[in-house]
Amino acid sequence: MRSSSILLAISAAVGAVAHQVELPPNVPRNIDEFRAKHPYKRSEGCGKRPIVQIRASQNDTDDVADDFLAGLHKANHGGTLYLPKDELYVIGKPLDLTFLDDVQIHWNGEVKFTNDTPYWQEHAFAHPFQNSLMFWKWGGKDVKLYGDGVLNGNGQRWWNEFAGLEILDPSNTYLRPILFYGENLTNFAMEGIHQKDSPCWTNFIVTSKNVSFTDVMCTAESNNATALPKNSDFFDSLNIEDLTVERVWVNVGDDCFSPKSNATNVHVDTMYCNGTHGQSMGSLGQYKGEKSFVQDVVIENVWLLNGQHGARLKTWAGPDVGYGFINNVTFRNFWQANNEYSAFIDSCYFNINSSTCAEYPSQMNITNILFENFSGTTSGKYGTAVARLTCSTNPNAVCENIEFRNFTVTSPCAAEGEKPLIICDGIKGGIGMDCVPADSDEAKAALKKKCKAPLAEIPPPF
Ligand SMILES: *[C@@H]1O[C@H](CO)[C@@H](O)[C@H](O)[C@H]1NC(C)=O
Ligand SMILES: *[C@@H]1O[C@H](CO)[C@@H](O)[C@H](O)[C@H]1NC(C)=O
Ligand SMILES: *[C@@H]1O[C@H](CO)[C@@H](O)[C@H](O)[C@H]1NC(C)=O
Ligand SMILES: *[C@@H]1O[C@H](CO)[C@@H](O)[C@H](O)[C@H]1NC(C)=O
Ligand SMILES: *[C@@H]1O[C@H](CO)[C@@H](O)[C@H](O)[C@H]1NC(C)=O
Ligand SMILES: *[C@@H]1O[C@H](CO)[C@@H](O)[C@H](O)[C@H]1NC(C)=O
Ligand SMILES: *[C@@H]1O[C@H](CO)[C@@H](O)[C@H](O)[C@H]1NC(C)=O
Ligand SMILES: *[C@@H]1O[C@H](CO)[C@@H](O)[C@H](O)[C@H]1NC(C)=O
Ligand SMILES: *[C@@H]1O[C@H](CO)[C@@H](O)[C@H](O)[C@H]1NC(C)=O
Ligand SMILES: *[C@@H]1O[C@H](CO)[C@@H](O)[C@H](O)[C@H]1NC(C)=O
Ligand SMILES: *[C@@H]1O[C@H](CO)[C@@H](O)[C@H](O)[C@H]1NC(C)=O
Repeated sequence: MRSSSILLAISAAVGAVAHQVELPPNVPRNIDEFRAKHPYKRSEGCGKRPIVQIRASQNDTDDVADDFLAGLHKANHGGTLYLPKDELYVIGKPLDLTFLDDVQIHWNGEVKFTNDTPYWQEHAFAHPFQNSLMFWKWGGKDVKLYGDGVLNGNGQRWWNEFAGLEILDPSNTYLRPILFYGENLTNFAMEGIHQKDSPCWTNFIVTSKNVSFTDVMCTAESNNATALPKNSDFFDSLNIEDLTVERVWVNVGDDCFSPKSNATNVHVDTMYCNGTHGQSMGSLGQYKGEKSFVQDVVIENVWLLNGQHGARLKTWAGPDVGYGFINNVTFRNFWQANNEYSAFIDSCYFNINSSTCAEYPSQMNITNILFENFSGTTSGKYGTAVARLTCSTNPNAVCENIEFRNFTVTSPCAAEGEKPLIICDGIKGGIGMDCVPADSDEAKAALKKKCKAPLAEIPPPF
């Protein structure tokens, strides 16, 4: 029998308590088990498409960007660019690939960016949203990238040089490129590919419709303990409609999934997130005077380990922020181990203190949010508080029909028989479960009962 247990050694303030947590059966514990459970199977189309091949790189600095571009031009309008297994394709200059129309890439080899950081900082494409850089731009219609190959951002040097900085610090000038950027894509699918070591966000999809990511793996793993793969979110978007994310393994240093302004009709089914910041709506409402919204979202069957939060909604507050709404979002069937809050509404994003947040509260409405069938345990960082829902104090910002159903998340800090606590502020009509305001004695006492749960390890045999 394979062992599917996770050892959670918990050292409470009073002393160390060992505690065994079972990972639910049949949940993959690493990338190999993920592939074994969800093998990439090419969905065969009918009819033969002409195949285009290009020169592969001879070594790590042999830039084939021009060949890649020429190959896509040639395969455009009905063909397939084929990147065979065990071949390397090094990209050393930015590519504008916004001309695509009915093209596929059979992606079994590895496409890798050079890590000449000063070159890319000078030459990469730029997007004003959070000061983003992009290696390349993909746009057009009927585009499919499929195979069991690799898209490698070669992020280590970028992380090393970024160490100690913050992406949202307005004075930060060390910008890093996004691994995959799509703009004006209609009917786009990525299947099977391993997206690896992005310098910054992994995917950023802007003004696009009918987009899907299926059987994809996304990892950003640093070999340098003082240089983490910061902000390597799996997925971000602006202005997206009809998005599907199905069967994805993510081990990165930021959000597992986080559509930003203007997302409509989003369905996520089956994601495994290790070491991430969670399944996040937003952040939203960052820019002064700008309206933003997220609506009609279902995120289901998610396993989240060793990260920051679980299901999260984050909206900006402060003197110069935007407005808008989050409406009709369901988070369903979430299992978690060793995350901070298992469910979190944060209406005081980003990095502002409570007095500034009270003076300039968020202008985002939050309505019709369901957290259903949540189980597992937290990390103990917030004591016996396992979820926190803080709505805006703005009288014009509506916060209603926020509901918890079948929520059984526990805290490693809770004594035998002690019930974990949910903190809630400003929700009209309650949440369907007991919850208490943050300034109550119960909440203060719960937050004080901090304990520490070291890494939820996933031991061999796999
Ligand atoms: C890499 O390959 C290219 C193309 O074959 C060659 O011109 C170059 O000298 C090689 N560089 C190194 C460092 O081997
Ligand atoms: C978006 O793509 C469509 C084709 O898919 C094209 O007709 C249109 O010009 C593009 N729009 C922009 C702004 O690039
Ligand atoms: C969405 O895109 C997929 C290909 O990725 C295509 O098969 C499907 O027909 C598209 N859906 C619509 C409504 O156009
Ligand atoms: C590791 O990252 C630090 C920055 O935190 C950097 O100074 C150091 O050179 C990196 N180590 C290696 C081996 O690259
Ligand atoms: C899970 O995340 C933790 C913390 O980031 C990391 O130490 C561990 O190696 C990861 N495990 C897997 C299987 O990715
Ligand atoms: C989002 O949509 C609103 C209109 O509803 C528009 O004003 C705003 O510019 C859009 N945001 C982005 C980032 O495009
Ligand atoms: C909520 O969003 C889901 C997912 O897009 C959709 O199926 C459902 O119809 C929406 N509910 C309402 C009341 O609009
Ligand atoms: C927020 O809700 C209120 C009350 O329903 C509504 O008047 C207002 O327009 C909403 N704001 C936005 C940005 O949707
Ligand atoms: C609740 O979620 C767990 C996974 O977290 C899943 O195994 C179980 O089937 C779900 N229950 C229902 C009734 O869907
Ligand atoms: C909160 O932040 C504001 C703006 O940075 C600052 O002026 C104020 O002194 C801070 N208040 C507290 C209580 O720290
Ligand atoms: C919620 O709990 C009830 C009673 O235990 C159970 O019948 C139902 O299947 C659960 N639903 C979900 C989605 O977990």
